[in-house]
Amino acid sequence: MEKARFSKTTTINLLIKHTISIQQKTVVSSMMKQLTTLATILVFFLSSHHTEAVLQVGFYSDKCQLAETIIRNEVVKAFVGDKGIAPGLVRLHFHDCFVRGCDGSILIDTTSTNKAEKDGAPNGRTLRGLEVIDNAKARLEAECAGVVSCADILAFAARDSIVLTGLYWDVPAGRRDGRISRAEETVDIPGPSFNLDQMTQSFAEKGLTQDDLVALLGAHTIGRTHCTAVTPRLYNYSSKTSQDPNLNPLLAKFLSQKCPINSEGEDTVFMNQTPLLMDSSYYANLFLHNGLFDSDQALLDSSETTQQVAFYATHGLAWQHDFVQAMVKMSQIQVLTGAEGEIRTNCRLINA
Ligand code: HEM
Repeated sequence: MEKARFSKTTTINLLIKHTISIQQKTVVSSMMKQLTTLATILVFFLSSHHTEAVLQVGFYSDKCQLAETIIRNEVVKAFVGDKGIAPGLVRLHFHDCFVRGCDGSILIDTTSTNKAEKDGAPNGRTLRGLEVIDNAKARLEAECAGVVSCADILAFAARDSIVLTGLYWDVPAGRRDGRISRAEETVDIPGPSFNLDQMTQSFAEKGLTQDDLVALLGAHTIGRTHCTAVTPRLYNYSSKTSQDPNLNPLLAKFLSQKCPINSEGEDTVFMNQTPLLMDSSYYANLFLHNGLFDSDQALLDSSETTQQVAFYATHGLAWQHDFVQAMVKMSQIQVLTGAEGEIRTNCRLINA
């Protein structure tokens, strides 16, 4: 029931947003077409979602009224100081959800007896935004102790980050925090050298479809990468060629300047020409062989995914819609609810 309710709210929200944008264009016939499409999506969306009560939009409205406001304020404050916080928080949420579900386990610190997820290979020094979660948690504990989970803070912060780069949706909440975080389980996070089958499989294991994969990878329109994730495509690629022939030579040249062969672990480069804007340029770039990672470019390795990429490249609003739906889905992977897990007092430590 609750799921159906949030779906409706989210979809109506999108409907309003699309309508506003269409009005700005003042093209009546296009407006009619778009409204018809949106109405179809609305009907499909309301009829296709199962009804079990899991998470709920407005979960904290009676328990901690200021929860979402406090989190948003912390995200905005951090964003003003460092724009990279926004993509950082989105990736943090993704990496949390792919290991043991969206349970805030990525936030737990390593101890003398346990190497935690945040020190697993795909995370380590590449994570951004951890201190934003700490600050939000400290304020939330002062406002309403023991109520708002770290897992929910992450989900809201990811949404608020994307709001700053151009999109909005309602976040169903009510996640509880996990008590286990193991570095070795970060093998569940797909890597930049994955091919399409590997990525599809990895997403399927988390209950996400290949369509979700294509829609979510559009997040790579914002943010940065460490050079070490791209240098394998630039130097000593294979015994036959030093650079990946699937990489646009112009991009390869640019990347080589930013990421020399001896790049240090801290060197980074933006993933896109519009690193702060959630547009669909990521998809158009793939047709120019400008996908940064093998895994990005691999979206053109099947006719189905190529069609979806081509559609998104030319239909930015449709991509934004699908991205939002896929984010809401991703943020519900294996969530703990009800009496499961706990509400951590400090996101870095499991409760005593
Ligand atoms: C097959 C799937 C994926 C692979 C192989 C992949 C790989 C990567 C890699 C290697 C980086 C660079 C990290 C760094 O060096 O700092 C990155 C960054 C990023 N990824 Fe992904 N990713 C995948 C899916 C996703 C998804 C599903 C999302 C969001 C929903 C996402 C959002 C981001 C964002 C926002 C950044 C920029 C982070 C920052 O600027 O700090 N990625 N990704």
